[in-house]
Amino acid sequence: MLPAMELNGTAAIVSGGASGLGEATVRALAAAGSNVLVADLNEERGKGIADEIGGQFARTDVSDADSVAAAVDAAAGLGAPLRVIVCCAGIGWAQRTVGRDGSPHDRAAYRKVIDVNLIGTFNLMSIGAAAIARTEPADADGQRGVVINTASIAGLEGQTGQLAYSASKGGIIGMTVPAARDLAAIGVRVNTICPGIIDTPIYGSGPASDEFKAKLAAPVVFPKRMGTSAEFAHLVLALIGNDYMNSEVIRFDGGIRFQPK
Ligand SMILES: NC(=O)c1ccc[n+]([C@@H]2O[C@H](COP(=O)([O-])OP(=O)(O)OC[C@H]3O[C@@H](n4cnc5c(N)ncnc54)[C@H](O)[C@@H]3O)[C@@H](O)[C@H]2O)c1
Repeated sequence: MLPAMELNGTAAIVSGGASGLGEATVRALAAAGSNVLVADLNEERGKGIADEIGGQFARTDVSDADSVAAAVDAAAGLGAPLRVIVCCAGIGWAQRTVGRDGSPHDRAAYRKVIDVNLIGTFNLMSIGAAAIARTEPADADGQRGVVINTASIAGLEGQTGQLAYSASKGGIIGMTVPAARDLAAIGVRVNTICPGIIDTPIYGSGPASDEFKAKLAAPVVFPKRMGTSAEFAHLVLALIGNDYMNSEVIRFDGGIRFQPK
């Protein structure tokens, strides 16, 4: 048997767990035997999913450190050692640096995207890892847990109008190596996934959204379609399950390379 982080009988926290990539991750972790805390702003969906999987929900705003601390406390109190933190909460925003009408990018919108996507990830990663540090090591390597962050390929090659979003995701990518180095002292691995175009509610629904999604997915190399949230969750579990994956930024995108537009 390969050494691999055992999920059965552990606790996990997933931000953004009420929808899309986070929801699929919650379901996959629960199926693997983990006791999952769904941390999300969306109370109705979050509670529903937590009930379905026999987990718990905590209404959480990831941009608020106190709110994250309360959710992490709840996860650490689930009765099993907290071993997994998955940061999926995020929001999109599209606006040019200087608009066609000549006005500069909205300051409050830029700050909001950074607050939720970047500071939100920093909050959960750091506060969650501090809680993991209080657990006993899980194996002979001294491993205590794993953090998986969700950036985006827009953090590597942002398209026009993605200034704020790309800055927030690029910041998550930039935190990966130093965080992994810092957290090695407490036996925690850190990896960041950069999804491409994955079919989730973030793109809305209806004919206009279908048209938008088809346009976005057209340059995907293979398979010629959007990714699925189940495929994302599969990668999360693979990264958790392989003890030698650390400090890595992984594209998850069917080979797409974003063009300027
Ligand atoms: N779907 C894609 O193609 C894609 C591509 C690249 C990156 N991503 C990233 O993946 C992550 C998940 O995206 P998704 O497609 O599943 O989106 P989604 O909209 O389906 O889910 C996002 C979840 O985050 C929650 N959320 C938003 N703000 C929050 C806050 N302040 N505190 C707590 N929860 C909050 C929402 O309520 C929602 O449940 C995001 O960070 C997104 O930027 C998605």
